[in-house]
Amino acid sequence: MSQSDPSAHSPAPRQHDMKREKLLKGREDLLAIVSAQLLLRAERDDLETRKRRIWVDVGGGTGYNIEAMSKFLDVPKFFDAVYMVELVPSLCEIARERFCELGWTNVHVICQDARAFRLEDYELPDSGYASSPVNSGQAQRGHEEGGADLITLSYSLSMIPDFHAVIDRFSNLLSPHGIIGVIDFYVQSEADASDRTYTGGLFGRHVNYLSRTLWRAWFELDWVGLEPARRDYLEYRLGTILTLNLRNKSLGSIPYYIWIGCRKDPTVAWFHHGAAAAQSPLWIRKGKQNDSNKLNLEGRRGQPDIPPKVLELALHNLSANLPLPAAFYQNQPWRVYYDDRLERYTQFSDEYIYSFTWEDSEVDQALLNIGPDDTVLAITSAGDNVLSYALHSPAKIHAVDLNPAQNHLLELKLAGYMALPYSDFWQLFGEGKHPDFRSLLTSRLSAHLSSRAFQYWLHHANVFNPAAGRGLYDTGGSRHALPAIRWASRLVGRRKAVKQLLEAPTLEKQRSIWIFKMRPALSSTLISHMLVQSEGFLWKALGVPKTQLAMIEEDYASSFEEPMFSSKRQRGNALYQYMMDTLEPVFTHCHVASENPYYFISLAGTYTPQCHPEYLAPQAHEKLSQRGALDKIRIHTDSLVDVLEESLSPGSLTVAVIMDSMDWFAPGDETAVKQVEALNRALAMNGRVLFRSAARVPWLLIWKGDELEVDLMGRMVGRRHEMFAGGGEKSVSPKGIRLGEENA
Ligand SMILES: C[S@@+](CC[C@H](N)C(=O)[O-])C[C@H]1O[C@@H](n2cnc3c(N)ncnc32)[C@H](O)[C@@H]1O
Repeated sequence: MSQSDPSAHSPAPRQHDMKREKLLKGREDLLAIVSAQLLLRAERDDLETRKRRIWVDVGGGTGYNIEAMSKFLDVPKFFDAVYMVELVPSLCEIARERFCELGWTNVHVICQDARAFRLEDYELPDSGYASSPVNSGQAQRGHEEGGADLITLSYSLSMIPDFHAVIDRFSNLLSPHGIIGVIDFYVQSEADASDRTYTGGLFGRHVNYLSRTLWRAWFELDWVGLEPARRDYLEYRLGTILTLNLRNKSLGSIPYYIWIGCRKDPTVAWFHHGAAAAQSPLWIRKGKQNDSNKLNLEGRRGQPDIPPKVLELALHNLSANLPLPAAFYQNQPWRVYYDDRLERYTQFSDEYIYSFTWEDSEVDQALLNIGPDDTVLAITSAGDNVLSYALHSPAKIHAVDLNPAQNHLLELKLAGYMALPYSDFWQLFGEGKHPDFRSLLTSRLSAHLSSRAFQYWLHHANVFNPAAGRGLYDTGGSRHALPAIRWASRLVGRRKAVKQLLEAPTLEKQRSIWIFKMRPALSSTLISHMLVQSEGFLWKALGVPKTQLAMIEEDYASSFEEPMFSSKRQRGNALYQYMMDTLEPVFTHCHVASENPYYFISLAGTYTPQCHPEYLAPQAHEKLSQRGALDKIRIHTDSLVDVLEESLSPGSLTVAVIMDSMDWFAPGDETAVKQVEALNRALAMNGRVLFRSAARVPWLLIWKGDELEVDLMGRMVGRRHEMFAGGGEKSVSPKGIRLGEENA
């Protein structure tokens, strides 16, 4: 990467740049994002023969962006040719002066109306794009492919009245796997785009009526057009890779967007998925050109993990000549399309509950013995366990969560493996803080993220900012839990004891701190009343639903001979007992600071190199950052039942980890029954299901209701209420797992 010293250049370009810096906000972000895309393509292209790399900057002004790109790429080395097209001669002069000073001979300033620009006037159209003299006029006509790897329009589209013609022209100039990056002002109402499936997410797109009217009228005075049609036509004419809706806060919150697109034809979609491309169900039937918009649904048989409803949607878009949903144009195949406008997703208000996973993945592996022949389905939660399973290289992992933000968190971790060295990965997920998160996100991680996950993390970049808060593990539900634990320990005068407990060098030392300092303090009625009796707190902070509370209460009541009537006080006692039953064995039998990252993170708010989940180990990073190591993961933003019924063929699943999700249902609940039936249908012979329960005996294992067709027989194992159900000949009931032909 080359760094240029801005002060080294003549005053003309610099003065001009400074005037515009405030108004034309976000240009560095655009450059960071496109450079990440280009570098990833370059890495993948290295395997093939590389052709000439070309960048066309449309409406380039003084050439500011081309120089600024050197923060991210070595412009003279990376590009064989850069064409800056600019209408105004005086600006072209400034640009020429700039590049002359920099000594960048590969940059060509073309003083021309963008509507008339033709790459073939400067480049030969064969695959090698042999160099030709600039403005030689030796145009070779008629090449269809187009040859630009990158086309940028930075605040210029809004200045071009014939935007349809310009978008058409430059779309045709893109090489098959080239990208186009646009940044510009915009105004748009929710109604304009709300029924579209191909926008890559509408987060923050709506601009209110007053702002729409004000900004449009204001910019018209300068001949800048903010009508929605410009952006709409871009999105119609090309495929969307990433999109962002932002506000220029330093200048009255002017709305602007950043958009990264590619050619929209389906042959281009899925190229980006590298290895997955060969298995794409969207491959095109070879044959007549007229057939090129037809999907070959036969592909579904070979690739059943793409939900038919998503394939149907893709078909619908193609038949209407619309681009595919953005998920199809992304560089990684992980995230399955979902419609983020539905209430089932918006109910989570863009917030995850779990910033780390509570369930012990080493116990999971000891019980499940996941290996290369397994097809695994697991609830995503914070994604930590999914990553531990990935270390055992199963054939496929389906991570499922209805809460989109939980899946955004897993995607960020996957992108982290792909884009970051271990030290950055550790800072982000080990310490939960990174001072440069935002720039890592734009310049590295963005190339591996889906549009929605990228939007999400850009809007939540402060989560990792050490100056803004306490980091990742103080967000989500733990945002309530961790401060509450700190506050409570201070209240009962045991803050120091908690610290000592976490720093105890041996189990003996830890045990004595627990017995003599912590346990007596916890028996304070204040703690039991304030911390554990509030349903709201338990749900928000720890994700404990009402049904689970009821199970704990029932177990407590059944330990007395006399029947008990439920009361608030009774519930407090039950929870207190449950808490002590859980904590006692942990602090007396397990050295938390070295063996139990789950309790450690809850008390300390961070991991340490001695105490962390498996996925954070340097060896895990080394394995999972290998090219293709994560290709087998699919992330579904959906309910378990829908994924089991729609994405998995009968008998194809060998392992299902459904965490404590059965505790979310009251015994015999209709949805729970459906879920078990769907699991039964999807499981292979000898398939294994792992679930945990807060109840001493989970209702599912003893349920005898008529509604439940599947009569699971399970085995209870483990130290911490882990349950193991199904699997193995002995534990399969006649009506149980795997019913055979009738389900096929
Ligand atoms: C707001 S400036 C942005 C300049 C530069 N892209 C940047 O981000 O600093 C827009 C530029 O587009 C140029 N422009 C407008 N219409 C054009 C056209 N039809 N052909 C070429 N350039 C055009 C203008 O002259 C102006 O320099």
